[in-house]
Parts: sequence; structure tokens; C-alpha cells
Amino acid sequence: MPTTSVIIPAAGAGRRFVATAAAERTPAAAAPQGKVFAMLAGRPVLAHTLARFAAVEDVVEVVVAVAADRVAWAAETFGREIAPGHRLVFTAGGQDRTESVERALAATDPRTEIVAIHDAVRPLIRPAVIAEAIRVAAQSGAAVVGRPVDHTVKRVADGRRVVETVPRDRLWLAQTPQVFRRELLMRAYAERRRVTAAVTDDAQLIEAMGLAVYMVQGDAANLKITTPEDLGLCEALLAAGWPFES
Ligand code: CTP
Ligand code: MG
Repeated sequence: MPTTSVIIPAAGAGRRFVATAAAERTPAAAAPQGKVFAMLAGRPVLAHTLARFAAVEDVVEVVVAVAADRVAWAAETFGREIAPGHRLVFTAGGQDRTESVERALAATDPRTEIVAIHDAVRPLIRPAVIAEAIRVAAQSGAAVVGRPVDHTVKRVADGRRVVETVPRDRLWLAQTPQVFRRELLMRAYAERRRVTAAVTDDAQLIEAMGLAVYMVQGDAANLKITTPEDLGLCEALLAAGWPFES
């Protein structure tokens, strides 16, 4: 099995979470440290995410990008959330997510064959889905976990007038992890400033080089926590026994 490094971007300010929590006076407003460290079923969100990766056999190291002033604290607090013999490193993130990933990538062990990138704020990822994405990336070069779109999609103009119902049969929503052969990801990040479009995920940089990226079907439960409502949904799923497998 290919040796795998994991990058967890966790250096965001969580502005939408904090703003919504304050506006709605939800209990999450009591979590001023933001969504990455908010409590979910009794543990910080990041602890859940690290535990999911600790359960994947091919993973040999995890590099977490956190805000620069939190590196020492995070290492102290989460330093043991790792499988025996694995390496867990905390690095300072950057101004945006891409910069955080770039810095974390530089801190990975250059000898691993595969690099998986996963948002800290998707704590319900299933280890079996991670393993499948690693398998597809080892075979093809690049794999993105996601879901076929199952809603009807409308394009709107000004004033929210509907101008088109977009055929959804070939549309997928991209989640994370996004998994790559190391040499492809290194090249994509080295050339990232050549991409003029707004970059919203890592696979986009591989696509911009004209290389193939394959989707791997994951779970609707692999939610990204953006607002306190998402945190509540994760809480409810865990209370209901997610991941519903033996
Ligand atoms: N992230 C990061 N470094 C940044 C910005 C974001 O590592 N400079 C991380 C976040 O911590 C999160 C992931 O990237 O785990 C996805 O980003 P997003 O959901 O947008 O989180 P935030 O940027 O923190 O939230 P917001 O956009 O609401 O401020
Ligand atoms: Mg953001």
C-alpha cells in the first residue's frame, strides 16, 4: 500500500461561523476559538477529524496548518491524537487556504508517495472513504471525494429571477479529502500562480495542468462545518450512531 501524508488545513478564522453564532445567539457563540476547536459530542472538531485519519492504515504522518499563534498550543493539546508510530506536526498556516496547504506541504516527509488534503471542519469523514480515495489516487494520480448532485439546480439573474434549470446528470459536488500522487501535487503547487481563475479546491490546480482527476463517491454526512447549524447537524448524526456501520 502507498505511504500517505495527510494535510489538514485548520488555520481559518471561521468568520461565517462566528458571525452567524453571534447573530443567532446560539450556544456556539460561547466558542470564541472558532469552528475548528468548537466542541462536538464532547471533543473539539479537530480531534474527531484526526481520529478518522488515525484509523487509515496507509497514513504515516499528519501535518495540521493552524493559525501562527496557535501552533504551540495545538501541538500540546492535540499531540497525542495519532496512531502509534505516526508523525503528527503542527505548522503555521497562511492568508488563505491555498497558502496554508502550501506551507503544510513543505513540512511533509518528501519520501511519501501520496498526499491527502482534508478540511479540519469535515469531522464525519469515514475511514473507508479515505482509503478508497487513496487507492484511486495511487492508480490514477488524483482523486476527489464528492457526491452526485441530487437537487434541481437553478441559475438566477439579478433579482433572483430564474434563467435556467441546469441539467444535473453530470454534476458532482466536491468535498474533501482530495488525494494526489506527491509529484503531481508538488508540481501543481509550484505552478499555482499561473492559474488565473479563483482557486477553491486543490484538484482545480491539477485540472489546470490538463491532468485527469477522478471522483470517488462519499457520504452526504461528510458535512463541512460553515455555520453553527452544520455543527448541530454533525452532533445529531453522531447522536444517531453515525457512521452506522459495525
Ligand atoms: N483554512 C486554512 N487557512 C486559511 C483559511 C482556511 O487552513 N487561511 C482552512 C479552514 O480552517 C478550514 C478549511 O480551510 O478547515 C476550509 O475553509 P473554510 O470552511 O472557508 O473555513 P474558514 O476560512 O475558517 O471560514 P470562513 O471562510 O467562514 O472565514
Ligand atoms: Mg474560508
